[in-house]
Amino acid sequence: MTTSSARPVLMFDSGIGGLTVLREARVLMPERRLVYVADDAAFPYGGWEEGRLRERIVSLFADLIAKHDPQIAVIACNTASTLVLADLRSAFPDTPFVGTVPAIKPAAERTRSGLISVLATPGTVKRQYTRDLIGEWAAKVHVRLVGSERLAGLAETYMREGFVGEQAVRDEILPCFIEQDGLRTDIVVLACTHYPFLVNRMRKTAPWPVDWIDPAEAIARRALSLLPQNARADALPSEPDIACFTSGKPDPAIQRLMQGFGLRVL
Ligand code: DGL
Repeated sequence: MTTSSARPVLMFDSGIGGLTVLREARVLMPERRLVYVADDAAFPYGGWEEGRLRERIVSLFADLIAKHDPQIAVIACNTASTLVLADLRSAFPDTPFVGTVPAIKPAAERTRSGLISVLATPGTVKRQYTRDLIGEWAAKVHVRLVGSERLAGLAETYMREGFVGEQAVRDEILPCFIEQDGLRTDIVVLACTHYPFLVNRMRKTAPWPVDWIDPAEAIARRALSLLPQNARADALPSEPDIACFTSGKPDPAIQRLMQGFGLRVL
């Protein structure tokens, strides 16, 4: 029989972006077993038509829940969370879901210039969910939504090959930087879990310094707060952490990357 502490924490993304959340979860809950799922057969999610993507993710989760029986599922993907979180919660009421949505509230609270930008996939930028977050939390600040076609792919390339063209990164982030009435954008929300992998390149190529908000630690803390506190903090999981890819076997570079994150590819 599976004990509740042996049931894994499932982390889901379209690709490798969810690893930015997984590495925080490792620090906060080292005793939990992690299952990482990348829907790489459908990467990138950014350009998908909403209805088709919603159906795909809900039907994938029917299989994932049956197969892994997770204690909790973390949707470590803004593009998916802003679309399908409510559907997942109503389709699978016994599984707690933690979503990743653009950190617009903390950005609106912290900005001094009143100019913030949300850097995300084209999907996240056009979601009603994102517009509602702005209406609810950032009505008094100027929010620029920047949908990038290329950054998630550039992050995948960087993690796979260890190199990415700085000019390409700069071109994608430049629309985030606004100067208006002597004021400048002072916060950029990284609203795609892939982007923190490129944050050093972004810092280097940005026209001026800004705060880059990465919500990964907050997401991992939220997941921890929803887990029953019955696992012994000093006990390591008896089974290995695993990674599954909807395409079947990922290429050797991705397999090595997963090993580096302590995940065995199934
Ligand atoms: N990592 C995903 C996110 O947080 C999206 C990447 C993609 O599939 O375009 O939005």
